[in-house]
Amino acid sequence: MHFHVLHRETIDSTNTALKRMASEGASEGTCLYADEQTAGRGRFDRHWLSPRGAGLYLSILLRPKIETTYLPLMSLLGGVIVFDALRALTPADLALDIKYPNDILLEGKKVCGILAEAGFSGHALAWVVLGMGVNVGQTEFPDGLLYPPTSLKLAFGEQCPHPTREDVLQGILDATATRYAEFLDHPPAILQTWREHSSFAEGKIITVSVGDRKLEGTTRGLRDDGALLVETAAGTVEPVTVGDVVSAR
Ligand code: BTN
Repeated sequence: MHFHVLHRETIDSTNTALKRMASEGASEGTCLYADEQTAGRGRFDRHWLSPRGAGLYLSILLRPKIETTYLPLMSLLGGVIVFDALRALTPADLALDIKYPNDILLEGKKVCGILAEAGFSGHALAWVVLGMGVNVGQTEFPDGLLYPPTSLKLAFGEQCPHPTREDVLQGILDATATRYAEFLDHPPAILQTWREHSSFAEGKIITVSVGDRKLEGTTRGLRDDGALLVETAAGTVEPVTVGDVVSAR
């Protein structure tokens, strides 16, 4: 696939800007990254702190010709793409994982968050913007984040030079070319790939907050629509599609 990569020093949000370009007809493979975001967004309308030069703030425009029912799987695809990219750039003794649905954990801490947003033309899917925020050079984070954060710099340590933002960008584009082609060929196959990459797929004791509600249980795989199945102490199996998953153990 062909990528057209655009760079901005400062932007409100690469996702917001690329969504606008998508609705104005930008082509598949258009990518936008910035050194800094002034209004970076996370899932559930949260703020994504995006200090200048510290992270990779990247959005990729895709126009998959797939059934709308496969749309939730695009979110899992985003996680697999960044996982692959970071795996190729990271020493094997550093643990990488995908926390449902698509946070990337490095040594158990969040190193990347992904925000997938879609646009429709009538009932048909017109575009998907995959937004990725990778913590690269941060040495500190504000208190009170929902999940303990890390960066490549912190995880690699002083002794070992960490990949640059450009290295991560290139790695993500390479992984996108491979994984997106596979996805278009047979979307449900991403479920198995995701399971192979994530310790959260099976037998993980987790807590999920869905609004004010807290659901606790053990993960029991993915459903065909990408929902995570969680078996509660009462023995019921509930599908989780939204909510924040934390690992209890
Ligand atoms: C999350 O973990 O809640 C998702 C965070 C996604 C952040 C990225 S940074 C690039 C792109 N532009 C945004 O405004 N958000 C995404």
